Amino acid sequence: MRANRAAFDRYALVPRMLRDTTTRNWSTTILGTAMPAPLLLAPIGVLSILHADGELAVARACAELGVPMVLSTAASHTIEEVAAASGAGPRWFQLYWPTDDAVTASVLARARAAGYTALVVTLDTWTLGWRPLDLDGAYLPFLRGVGTAIPFSDPAFRAGLTRSPEDDLGAAVGRWVPMFTGTALRWEQLDLLREHWDGPILLKGLLHVDDVAAALEASVDGIIVSNHGGRQVDRAVGALTVLPGIVAAVDGRAAVLFDSGVRTGADAALALGLGADAVLLGRPYAYGLALGGQDGVRHVVRSVLAELDLTLALAGYADLAELRGAPSPTVVHP
Ligand SMILES: Cc1cc2nc3c(=O)[nH]c(=O)nc-3n(C[C@H](O)[C@H](O)[C@H](O)COP(=O)(O)O)c2cc1C
Repeated sequence: MRANRAAFDRYALVPRMLRDTTTRNWSTTILGTAMPAPLLLAPIGVLSILHADGELAVARACAELGVPMVLSTAASHTIEEVAAASGAGPRWFQLYWPTDDAVTASVLARARAAGYTALVVTLDTWTLGWRPLDLDGAYLPFLRGVGTAIPFSDPAFRAGLTRSPEDDLGAAVGRWVPMFTGTALRWEQLDLLREHWDGPILLKGLLHVDDVAAALEASVDGIIVSNHGGRQVDRAVGALTVLPGIVAAVDGRAAVLFDSGVRTGADAALALGLGADAVLLGRPYAYGLALGGQDGVRHVVRSVLAELDLTLALAGYADLAELRGAPSPTVVHP
């Protein structure tokens, strides 16, 4: 997590002067999803531990602002409940890929039917990293049936149980926890997702340029450069450090999104200046949720959007095309 922040300190914006940026437009379309600025909310699981409304509050705040949310498989509300809260708001679905293909197919069909337009497949969490604070507290919410709303409401998952999760929590947890840590998954199996998902697919958690090459080989539509906010491999590289090399390697053949360490609109501006097509905000909106529910999320996102707008405008850019087409470096190593 510190490496993510340190990576931001290794780059700096180089503002330009005497350019007309009085009228700005940051709207963009990423893989078919229109958004007011290249900003999405990252999938964060188990949000009910922060606020009773959890993912519903996030969905409502996002819908108000037109900012896409990415719903986690580890949500505390169902796919359909979050879709209802999101209404006409843009929404993507994040998959923790179950080892049972029937469950995978069922979850994907539900997400499609409920209006989630892109699929984010998280690859860096096939088992949980070493998390001392959680270990010290013997804390894993899934074991208490928290953050399991999606599988527990899934007909294919329930079909594999002799007693329902409502009647036998232990058995349901015992079936789900090993199932959603898909240790046997390999690149070849991405075809299975294509069979069951006809929209865009992004792979989340890529850091190595050879994995990016494999992703392009597999014809994915987008990648998310991310180290999971530093929660998985301790001593992993700060995600921003590898972003420029990955942008160069992809060379426009897939969308390149970025997360891990974005705290402010200026951070988002830096990642965009380094070539990300869009950035995802993680912990900051979760803090907003904890403090103020829907209003808290809305306030955080509006603040980040406002700072992003001001930063890019004061740096001399009026829209993303200008930023992308900048003839001399927008960002330098200080
Ligand atoms: C508490 C917590 C839970 C998370 N849960 C998920 C999840 O369910 N699925 C997922 O793909 N990423 C998950 N992430 C990772 C985020 O999507 C994102 O990569 C990360 O938070 C970005 O870093 P940042 O928090 O520094 O912005 C989680 C992150 C946090 C902090």
